[in-house]
Amino acid sequence: MRKPMAGTGWKMNHTAAETADYAERLKAILAPGIADSLDIFVLPPFTALHAAQRHFAGSSVAYGGQNMHWDLYGAWTGEISAPMLVEAGCRYVELAHSERLAHFGETYELVRRKLDAALAEGLTPILCLGETGEDKRQGRTVTVLAEQLATALTGQPAERVPEVVLAYEPRWAIGAAAAASPGHVAACHTALRTLLTERYGEDVADRTRIIHGGSVTPENGEELIRLPDVDGLFVGRAAWSPEGFARIVDIVHRAA
Ligand code: G3P
Repeated sequence: MRKPMAGTGWKMNHTAAETADYAERLKAILAPGIADSLDIFVLPPFTALHAAQRHFAGSSVAYGGQNMHWDLYGAWTGEISAPMLVEAGCRYVELAHSERLAHFGETYELVRRKLDAALAEGLTPILCLGETGEDKRQGRTVTVLAEQLATALTGQPAERVPEVVLAYEPRWAIGAAAAASPGHVAACHTALRTLLTERYGEDVADRTRIIHGGSVTPENGEELIRLPDVDGLFVGRAAWSPEGFARIVDIVHRAA
């Protein structure tokens, strides 16, 4: 009932020219019609979105921004708004990535405002959630996830919640040597589904996708995608080449 997803966030990698090359190589590998069984997305830097628009047009691959401002326009130097992403053909916008929280002072209160604007403008937010290593050591993982979820979704009516994609990315597992253990991943995805059920009811929880990120690779992805309540893989380094991402897409496709 939930369409699986394979996605990659490129972070500050790939120029427009490199994006064009990535898109052409990826399209040449992916089977036609693959998007019938899973949603595939890439998140290039802002400067490469127009190259993505040209080169992914009419393909199985959607794309989106890695961040946005909560306001629609105005005196916000260096920022990008939801209508700008929509104009560039984006379907998605990533919000609350660990690197935004850790290095740019973002908070879930700001993320709430961004998420609201994204939904209002017709973008699908990919809402990142995850505990720090210290949270985990203190046994606070589920408490932290509950707080992040509650803050980010404050004010959203239940019927809008399935329009949001939740991305569980333990912050300590991003850019790390290894992904979280399958036991930890399964427990946290199931905890998030339970939190959704308690807050919005079973129907909303059943329809909301929860994808997994943090040092996912073609090697560990086979096991992670088959865990309960894992609806997709969200990959950084291992998908920065089109051939690497195609392997992730194939793993999700075969598990669908
Ligand atoms: O959003 C996915 C990303 O943060 C994970 O990065 O390199 O650990 O797969 P990586």
